[in-house]
Amino acid sequence: MALRLFEGKDHAAAYLQYRVSPHELICRIMDYMETKMPKQFDLAVDVGCGSGQGTILLAPYFTKVVGTDVSPAQLKMAVANSIPPNVSYRQCSAEELPFASGGVDLVTAMTAAHWFDRQKFLLEADRVLRPGGCLALLSYSMDMELEYGDVSNTLNDICKEFYAALLPYRNPYLGSSSVKIYLDMFDSCPYPDKEWNECLRVKRITPLNRYIGMVETFSSYQILQQKDPVEAERLSNEARNKLMSAMKVSSPDAEVTVIVKYFYWLACKP
Ligand SMILES: C[S@@+](CC[C@H](N)C(=O)[O-])C[C@H]1O[C@@H](n2cnc3c(N)ncnc32)[C@H](O)[C@@H]1O
Repeated sequence: MALRLFEGKDHAAAYLQYRVSPHELICRIMDYMETKMPKQFDLAVDVGCGSGQGTILLAPYFTKVVGTDVSPAQLKMAVANSIPPNVSYRQCSAEELPFASGGVDLVTAMTAAHWFDRQKFLLEADRVLRPGGCLALLSYSMDMELEYGDVSNTLNDICKEFYAALLPYRNPYLGSSSVKIYLDMFDSCPYPDKEWNECLRVKRITPLNRYIGMVETFSSYQILQQKDPVEAERLSNEARNKLMSAMKVSSPDAEVTVIVKYFYWLACKP
């Protein structure tokens, strides 16, 4: 079973505005690939590309990069973004990719594979990858942390309250742990050459409001917003106000360091 979420126009727009795809992780993927096949890379496919923030980071390394997603709303945002000339997008499901068998050098799924029919996707990725081609799946845990002067602990207590309030709205398809989903996928990948990485802490200095915006893109927040928009807004405002008060700032544009904890795995098709 795969799930169709992230289809709303507003959610897709929020993705483009708030989600960050770390170039640090793209560098790790490319370092891994270069140890496996030191040559010109032709085709990368970024599955569940959303609004394409991660997809475009692959552009310098490949002759051609194709971002795929099942959601027309997300793809509309992706094409509205500025796109390098070697990047294009296709609408399709992760479980049926429109590529010839053995023709792809790299398949990535960035913060997306947990929504797929995971076993079908792994089989499909295996079909399209060429021997020596790589699969890279990455995601991050919801428990982002904040750093700000000597009040980081207080901020993180407020963040934890915010996340805890969203937890009841976590989609049951995800179970209790996203890391476990990825570990299970890792374990079921039959390639002998594979590596699991947990965790890469990516730091970004960003306005406080952008941090709130990132949390609002989480599927649990989106579910709450659909069920009870007033409560969703109240929770965001409460977290924002408490954070501002702890930081002793009067504007949500005040900058704070956000730490996102990524986990990822890489595998090379024999
Ligand atoms: C959490 S977003 C991640 C988007 C982007 N990769 C990023 O890093 O910001 C997940 C994306 O996966 C897409 N998606 C979910 N299930 C899918 C499926 N079965 N096939 C293709 N795309 C899917 C959604 O439409 C959404 O755009």
